[in-house]
Amino acid sequence: MNQNELKKAVAQEAVKYVKPNSVLGVGTGSTVNCFIDALAPIKDQIKAAVSSSEATTARLKDLGIKVISLNDVDHLDIYIDGADEINENMEMIKGGGGALTREKIVASVSKQFICIVDESKVVKELGRFPLPIEVIPMAKESIFRKLKDLGFEPVHRDFTTDNGNCIIDVKGMNITNAREWEEKINNWVGVVTVGIFANRKADVLLIGTENGVKTVK
Ligand code: A5P
Repeated sequence: MNQNELKKAVAQEAVKYVKPNSVLGVGTGSTVNCFIDALAPIKDQIKAAVSSSEATTARLKDLGIKVISLNDVDHLDIYIDGADEINENMEMIKGGGGALTREKIVASVSKQFICIVDESKVVKELGRFPLPIEVIPMAKESIFRKLKDLGFEPVHRDFTTDNGNCIIDVKGMNITNAREWEEKINNWVGVVTVGIFANRKADVLLIGTENGVKTVK
């Protein structure tokens, strides 16, 4: 099976978690795109979705699924999203697609975070994938310098987020204490969101492997 087939298999498994007449939280990325495609046969049973990006909104609407504002619901039963890396504690790096802030907001009001990945995303230690940080444009150089002073390798991404902000990708981090790093970087003035998802980590992990989909809870 190639990586795309593993993504499709895991997406298919995630559809089983969708309850009839529910409002879903939907993440962003190529694995989530497979999940949205897999919703087609049950789309009439979905009341609505809360989306984490303009790209996901467009795809959901193309399928005929109603997209509502997060402000119109007080909670979500499930949030389904991919990850760039996930460790055995269910902590993640996210934001490779630049949607980390809205993803973190939607995840924060969801009772269950279901993370869908192919096996290449499962790691012992977070940090091989460059850590995305969404920053206010005015602060992009001050945050960049702070990261350099700490001995990391920040790179400006040529990209504007759905919120009109910048992304810095940070190489050279070995994130052994994900919760601490998440809190520390989030506290820097000018940072909107760091792509470490440790305080609100995944509850269920579906991994697409050569031997089928593995579920970790
Ligand atoms: C989007 O900003 C990210 O957090 C994605 O969830 C993550 O990059 C996984 O994307 P893929 O499924 O495309 O690998």
